[in-house]
Order: sequence, then C-alpha cells, then structure tokens
Amino acid sequence: MNLDVTFSQWRELQTAARAARGNAWAPYSRYQVGAAVLASDGRFFVGCNVENASYGLTICAERVAICTAIAQGCSSFIAICVSLTGIPVPCGACRQFLVEFNPEMLVLLDDVNHAADTPPELVRLSELLPRAFRLL
Ligand code: THU
Repeated sequence: MNLDVTFSQWRELQTAARAARGNAWAPYSRYQVGAAVLASDGRFFVGCNVENASYGLTICAERVAICTAIAQGCSSFIAICVSLTGIPVPCGACRQFLVEFNPEMLVLLDDVNHAADTPPELVRLSELLPRAFRLL
C-alpha cells in the first residue's frame, strides 16, 4: 500500500477537515473537531464530533469520518487529518479505532490557529499507539 501523501493531498485533507469541523455538534463542550480521511483509492471522507445530552454517547470526529467511509464501502486508509485548537491529537479510543484499519496510517495534526498554509505535524499512527491491541 502506498503510504505517501502528496502536498496537494494534505492540503485537501486539511481543507476538508477544517470545513467538517464547522459542522461539529458540540453544544456541551463547545469544542469543535474536524477530521478527514484519505482512502487508498483517492477518495476523501469527513467527520466532525457529535455530542449528546447523554454525554457518554458522544462520537469523536475521527470515528465519524471512518464510519462514513465504511458505510460507503471504503475500508482502506492512507492518512487522516485531525483539525482542532490546542494540541491536535486523536484521543486514545480513536487511536485504537484507527489501528483496526491501518496501524501505519499517517496522522496529520492540524491546529486551526495556524494559518492554512502551515504544514501540519505528521506522525505515524504506530507512534501514537505502539503495541496496539489487534485480533487480526
Ligand atoms: N473529540 C474528538 O472529536 N476527537 C478526539 O480525538 C478528542 C475529542 C471531541 C469529543 C467531544 O465532543 C469534544 O471533542 C470534547 O472532548
């Protein structure tokens, strides 16, 4: 699997994740998160966090993006961009969720306080979640 992301692909991922962030349903935390995944067939899928009055039902942006892709028959991913303010890293649950599909996925960490042309920090998912639990 090709694990490289071109400059134009990361810009597209960043733009898509930032736009999705604007759709976040976050009336409780007021903390908006956007995510965009790049599939190995070149398609992009986006997600945002969706909160609920029953707080524990909240779904993170990363998982929404992956579920959106899966529902459209896509399960092979190269990269994900996470856009938020502050320290832009996926939570532990999302790391485990992402590992299911590709432990070597590239994770683009996009702080929306930075200008859109600032290259986001890039890490491998295996660095964020070493020795991940897997059955397959
Ligand atoms: N959140 C995400 O969407 N992704 C993460 O990786 C961390 C947290 C959301 C969940 C909740 O709606 C808000 O951020 C505050 O925790």
